[in-house]
Amino acid sequence: MTDLFTPLTIGAVTFRNRIAVSPMCQYSSTDGYANDWHLIHLASRAVGGAGLVFTEAAAIEPRGRISPQDLGIWLDEHIEPLAKIVRAIHNFGAIAGIQLAHAGRKASTAPPWEGGQVLDTSNGGWHPVLSSSAIPFSENHPIPEALNTEGIQQIINDFVQAAQRSQEAGFKVIEIHAAHGYLLHQFLSPLSNKRNDEYGGSFENRTRLLREVVQAVREILPSDYPLWVRISATDWVENGWDIEQSIALAEKLNSLGVDLIDTSSGGSVPNAKIPFGAGYQTEFAARIRHEANILTGAVGLITSPEQADQIIRTGQADIVLIGREMLRNPYWALSAAKKLRQEKFSPVQYERAWL
Ligand code: FNR
Repeated sequence: MTDLFTPLTIGAVTFRNRIAVSPMCQYSSTDGYANDWHLIHLASRAVGGAGLVFTEAAAIEPRGRISPQDLGIWLDEHIEPLAKIVRAIHNFGAIAGIQLAHAGRKASTAPPWEGGQVLDTSNGGWHPVLSSSAIPFSENHPIPEALNTEGIQQIINDFVQAAQRSQEAGFKVIEIHAAHGYLLHQFLSPLSNKRNDEYGGSFENRTRLLREVVQAVREILPSDYPLWVRISATDWVENGWDIEQSIALAEKLNSLGVDLIDTSSGGSVPNAKIPFGAGYQTEFAARIRHEANILTGAVGLITSPEQADQIIRTGQADIVLIGREMLRNPYWALSAAKKLRQEKFSPVQYERAWL
């Protein structure tokens, strides 16, 4: 019986358990560079027993940052500070993963603790922001520039370059961020994509950019290198992106060599009615796993070890990603091991705590 502490092998990589630190923006970079905050923050979660530690969304180009303080990977100079973090995570027994992202029309905002408002060029923001169509995220957001064909090619190239640098930094998993209303999701969702060229309209056309990004990234990675995609399984809005389209997309991504669908939801529009509650997105991970026949990750209000273990035991997902609970408790995985198995599982330096 597979449980939360059964190792998981995907291609060349074996995770010691099925607990991942979900990507979480720290809004703590200058010019995209990782620093001591990222090192201590991420390495702590490796010491804390997680099987996989994801960085926050790393921007593939500066205009793709949610805030000026986002992590980035658009320069070769970004590699070494990231490599230092990767080495620490691997030294402490976890696998290091990176999430590659472009915020599209949701870029250029202040960090949440400064209010999260849109920043214009006079206060550190940038203009224009980019999207599939010239439709703002909300009335408070600027009208984005709809990418033309050259712009789309540039985005694909930027993802490829970012993937190349990620590999050079030593990351063993790359996740493409196509969820939460960011650029790739802005192409997927009919709520934000009103294009009438080959990148808009039909399901085939709306999914084209993501498929092209995946194909181009997959081409430069070894075939046994884990490539994941995070999607929003539904916009939670009628006539928006939904679970049926997600299942169809997952089938296509599977055939393009994507190993796992990290299944989140929402973020396309500000007013969606989302039924937040324990494990509220897990059903989508389960449906994609069973109907598209691909590995999935479950995320979203998974907080207790028993809940996480049950998701794995009942085959709803292959790995769980823990977000905020990992901020509250970097040792969540160690606590879960103790609770579920009552056996020693910790760095030797902490052994006496378990006697
Ligand atoms: C997030 N989330 C997020 N998601 C993502 O795909 N990339 C990111 O960079 C971020 N950044 C981020 C920052 C912070 C502070 C939070 C709290 C969340 C979403 C996160 O990965 C996760 O999907 C949600 O938080 C839901 O899981 P939990 O927190 O309920 O376990």
